[in-house]
Amino acid sequence: MSTETSSKNCFVPQEELDRQKEYSALVASVLSARFEKKPLAFVHTYGCQGNVSDGERIKGLLEQSGYGFTEDIEEADLILYNTCAVREHAEDRIYGNVGAIKRLKKANPNLIIALCGCMMQQQRVAEKIRKSYPFVNLVFGTHVIHKVPELLYKVLCTGKRVFSCDESDGVIAEPLPVRRDGTIKGWLPIMYGCNNFCSYCIVPYVRGRERSRKPESIIAEAKELIALGCKDITLLGQNVNSYGKSLDCDINFSKLLQQINDLEGDFIIRFMTSHPKDCTKELLDTMARCDKVAKHLHLPFQSGNNRVLKEMNRGYTREQYLELAHYARKVMPGLSMTSDVIVGFPGETYEEFKETLTLIDEVQFTSLYTFIFSSRPGTKAASMPDPVSRDEKGVWFRELTDLQEKIAGERTAKMKGETYTVLCEGYAKEGILNGRTQGNIMIEFPEVEGKDVLGKFCKVKVTEPLTWIVRGELTD
Ligand code: SAM
Ligand code: SF4
Ligand code: F3S
Repeated sequence: MSTETSSKNCFVPQEELDRQKEYSALVASVLSARFEKKPLAFVHTYGCQGNVSDGERIKGLLEQSGYGFTEDIEEADLILYNTCAVREHAEDRIYGNVGAIKRLKKANPNLIIALCGCMMQQQRVAEKIRKSYPFVNLVFGTHVIHKVPELLYKVLCTGKRVFSCDESDGVIAEPLPVRRDGTIKGWLPIMYGCNNFCSYCIVPYVRGRERSRKPESIIAEAKELIALGCKDITLLGQNVNSYGKSLDCDINFSKLLQQINDLEGDFIIRFMTSHPKDCTKELLDTMARCDKVAKHLHLPFQSGNNRVLKEMNRGYTREQYLELAHYARKVMPGLSMTSDVIVGFPGETYEEFKETLTLIDEVQFTSLYTFIFSSRPGTKAASMPDPVSRDEKGVWFRELTDLQEKIAGERTAKMKGETYTVLCEGYAKEGILNGRTQGNIMIEFPEVEGKDVLGKFCKVKVTEPLTWIVRGELTD
């Protein structure tokens, strides 16, 4: 596997995409001969928004190849799990789910079981599936998504198992058909892969080298989303702040953000994830200036201790992180900040962990994604001595979540009586709508007869703050 940091010429040629379209037509004709009704696919995606976005493209290719879709796994003719490898728990869940669906094969001999995504990009996993799960028909990694029609055709025509998990620095295949999960909110990938090799993280090994989509493709997709009525566009990448580095044109993330902000329409822009080492004051100034960019910054810090940050290969110090956070709040007063944090990195001491707590206290995050370190085979951290027990890490973890709960509660308490612009996303339960503030705080509010706000921006006054969400009522 290459750890070089450049990835030019990664665009899949149009002829290859045309060839896959021909395979789609072939798959559709096999399916119509084999099934009386339109065959149904059950597709479930685990992991990050980038994986969800991949899932939307895979569904686009399946639709193009003649499949309909179902949420009921029992009636599916194709079951596809799009997997995540970021923590051991994510992998264990997949093995459990796959074992549990074996019985469906007996009821429907035509059923195809397929696995794809980050977990399958690891050789040891693909081998385990090959040996221990013989009823799985198709396994493919993250670099061949555009080849789904060809891979399916092989499975359908030969009846043999197909594995396509070769290592690669990665490609960009576009345009691909997309079947979106919804139209109120939209995922918009701007780049793929990662070059950072944080010592605990499997992503660079399973997603290939960092590569950026061309700005014109991104703008075209943004326009498409706006035309569909999308009101909340999230730009995706493992490190959006280094957008453009693999391209030969005058673009960076700040410029891209400004270009999307300048598009006509009533929508807000979010982005994730920002890496602190590449987060510039220019970007924070651009965020502050762009009226459509949500005043919400997800900036993972992982640890508040400099020795641990160095061992993690994060490329910034506690002081640099705090300087960015303070600058961001200076240019965007009221900015909502969220972050990712790892507890119990190998060798972390309790004293070092306490510096994570003091950083949290200083920044006052809206919410945190908190993880106990999970050893990922093949990463540098997997071979580091890890003397602290899982139980002990669990105690630290609760100390951290208690602190964050207190901060979140104090923050939401201050929202009482305030009115926020909220994008109404759907129903929490019958008669109760929900949505998010720009700062990404969930608000629930009763539906009002005669006011059709679903999928629209509306004003909601907070009446009852809870810890993680708030309740409110629609105002005019
Ligand atoms: N690219 C993003 C960044 O650097 O901020 C993070 C993407 S990663 C998919 C999401 C989060 O998972 C990370 O920020 C980290 O907190 C967590 N994570 C990754 N590897 C982990 C591991 N081995 N154990 C525990 N948490 C992990
Ligand atoms: Fe993983 Fe680090 Fe890349 Fe994020 S930046 S995906 S944590 S290696
Ligand atoms: Fe998981 Fe792959 Fe995303 S490992 S978090 S699905 S990039």
